[in-house]
Formats: sequence, C-alpha cells, structure tokens
Amino acid sequence: MDSFDLSLLAPEITGAHAQFPGALEACADLGALNRLKGAYTGREGSFSAQLMERLKAAPKDQKRELGVVINALKSEWESALKARQAQLEAARKAGGSASSAWDATLPPPIPPAGALHPLNRLMARLVEVFRPLGYHVEEGPEVETEEHNFDGLNIPEDHSARGTADTFYLAGHAHLLLRTHTSPVQVRVLKRLAPELEKKGGIRFLAPGRVYRKDEIDPTHSPMFHQVEGMLVGKGIGMHHLKGTLAYAMKALFGEGADVRFRPSYFPFVEPGCEMDVRCPLCSGAGCRVCKGSGWVEILGAGLIHPNVLRFAGIDPAIWSGFAFGMGVERTAMMVSQTPDLRLFFENDQRFLKLMGGLD
Ligand code: DAH
Repeated sequence: MDSFDLSLLAPEITGAHAQFPGALEACADLGALNRLKGAYTGREGSFSAQLMERLKAAPKDQKRELGVVINALKSEWESALKARQAQLEAARKAGGSASSAWDATLPPPIPPAGALHPLNRLMARLVEVFRPLGYHVEEGPEVETEEHNFDGLNIPEDHSARGTADTFYLAGHAHLLLRTHTSPVQVRVLKRLAPELEKKGGIRFLAPGRVYRKDEIDPTHSPMFHQVEGMLVGKGIGMHHLKGTLAYAMKALFGEGADVRFRPSYFPFVEPGCEMDVRCPLCSGAGCRVCKGSGWVEILGAGLIHPNVLRFAGIDPAIWSGFAFGMGVERTAMMVSQTPDLRLFFENDQRFLKLMGGLD
C-alpha cells in the first residue's frame, strides 16, 4: 500500500489500516475473523463503507485519485481476509487449535504415557531394597502343582487350605491349582539349586507375584492378590539373621523411623514361625482405624525353614539352615497409602492411580 497516497484519507482510516495485519493475525477462529471482516469490509458502518461515503462526497477533481486509493485498500483487506479464512478452515479441519501460524519454538505436546501400577512399584521397590543384600528375583508359575504348593512345604494332607472351598483347582487336572501363595517358588528354587548349594555357598532370592484364593470380594479381600516371598539359605542361620534383615528392609522401605515387632505364629513350612508387625504409619502407634487401635499393623509371615522343606528339596538340614518370609503386597500398599478399600487397586480409575503416584 505504500505506493498510494494515504494522506488523502481520514486519520481513523489510516490508523485502522495500520492495525489491520495485527488484528488479522490475532483472529484465533472463524468467529473472530467474521467480526473483523464486518468491521473492515461490511456493508454498513465499516471502514470500507466510510470510504465509499468519503468518495461520494469528494470534490470532482479528487474522485479519480481517491477512487484508486480506496479500491486498492479494500481489495487488500478482502484478499487478506480470504487467505486467513482459508488458513483457519484448514486448521479446524485438521483438528488443531486454529491459532496463529505454526510455532516451531513451542515445546512439543507430551503424549500421555503408561506408568507402573502402584502395586508393581511397591514390589519393585522391595526388590531394590534386597538387591544390594545379594537377593536376586525368582519367578514361578501361577498354575502350580499340589506338590509345590503344599507337599514340599510340609503342609499336611488334611490341611484345610487344600480343600476346594479355599483353593481353585483346574477342572479336569486333579493336581493342578492356582497357587495360593508365593511359597511354592521356595520349593522350585531349592530343588533346582540343591546340587550346587555347596559351590554357591547359599541361596538368596525374592519372588514377587500373583496368588489366588477363593475369597469373596470385599474391602480387604480379593480372589487374586500379590505377595513377595523371600528366602535365604546358608550355614548357621538363626532368628537373629531374620530379624536383622527384615528390620533393615523395613527401614529402607518406610524410613529410618520404621519400627518392627515379631510375634510367634504358626506356618507348617517354618519352625519357629512368626508374624512381623510395623508401627502404624498413620498414628505412629497411638492407635487408629488402620491399626484397629493396637498401634501395629501385621505385614508378613516368616520363620526358620522347616527341616522337612529342606529335606524334600534334597538339602541336608544338618548342614544347611535358613529363613523365609511372605509379605502381603496389597495390605502393605493399603497401609502406607491409607487406602481403605483394596478394590481401588484393581479398578484402574485414573484419578486413584494418579494419587497413588505418592507411593513412590
Ligand atoms: N505363605 C504364607 C501365606 O500365604 C506367608 C508366609 C509365612 C510365607 C511364613 C513364608 C513364611 O515364607 O515363612 O500366608
């Protein structure tokens, strides 16, 4: 437009023309563009309409020159408006936000990414706590044999856990079942490593995984849940090793202030057997709903490996001894995150899973 003599025009018009490129750029959608179009080229009251009035009223000898300037202005506005309209329509079709031109300096949008489930994160953390102590990770099948799930663990023939009321057996396969705990991994690993035990000097492993029991679903029960099994075999291993290891692990997991206590208990595959409680993280021991007023929450069963378990795997209990433990993952996750209902962990509500980011 610089080639035209704008001084013939009213200052409002030259001002409006100067602002036009910026105003056009600022139109983020077709609605805004239409408003701008109305203001510049509309039939009534627009800058174009004012210019036509001006032309009509101009003295004869100015009309020609003025007409050229006015036409040039109007057609510049019209073609720029048209181009912007095409741009905005294309952006809308592409589903983009139809703001100004593409800005290569903006950071790229971050696509939503997957993340570890809070239960898997807790298990992974436990593995990381034990790894520096020389424990590796073992896995066993979720469909197990009676031999590994019960026989090898010194569980008597008439034990109630073997019944069809508690355990899922596979239809048509009398001795196959869904493992009721992670303890059968003990039997598998002991049998596998028995021949090289002397050479290796011992065994240390963790076995995290899913387990199944015929429990009705309620706020603290689910037919599928998770455990982490731990085991150490060596020479001259006693309760002091078990207590020291677990007390250390709980401090590493929950912080230096974590306090533990051991209570005698019974499991067929350990002797002596015990349960371990941690000081309630919610009330610090004062007593609350989470710890049912006791100040302590049970998180695992443990004990010294029963000689029959070692014998079953072909290991001489006169030479070797060890400890084992089995921790309930949901129970621990519920306690540390103060989640009142276990089902929340399985429903995959994104809001809950995001909140649980705090478990890390
Ligand atoms: N397997 C037991 C359960 O499911 C937990 C357990 C207790 C595991 C004592 C152990 C142990 O290794 O020594 O309830």
